[in-house]
Amino acid sequence: MDKSTIVCRCEEINIDEIETAIKNGAETFDDIKRLTRCGMGPCQSKTCFYPVNEIIAEYTGMPLNEVSLPRLRMPLKMVRMSTLAQDSEGSNVVSVFGESVEDGES
Ligand code: FES
Repeated sequence: MDKSTIVCRCEEINIDEIETAIKNGAETFDDIKRLTRCGMGPCQSKTCFYPVNEIIAEYTGMPLNEVSLPRLRMPLKMVRMSTLAQDSEGSNVVSVFGESVEDGES
């Protein structure tokens, strides 16, 4: 890939900027975030997290599964608790008491 390839679309951060951050001591996604704003856009790193971690792994020689996870933040917009409680298929909403409830009842 070309060094000018955009990795973080929200903040328009390219591969060259990520590599420069790594050369300046960044070892984790959070380090790169602090140095470049990568991951601070509206998607909150949903798009750029994996490509940036691949660059970190490639550049440092660290196995990809050992690159540390970023600090997670709450969603940028309001989200219903029932949405957060859904399973991966979007069904089986579970209450805090472990009971299955219909969407809108919580
Ligand atoms: S693509 Fe990086 S924050 Fe959205």
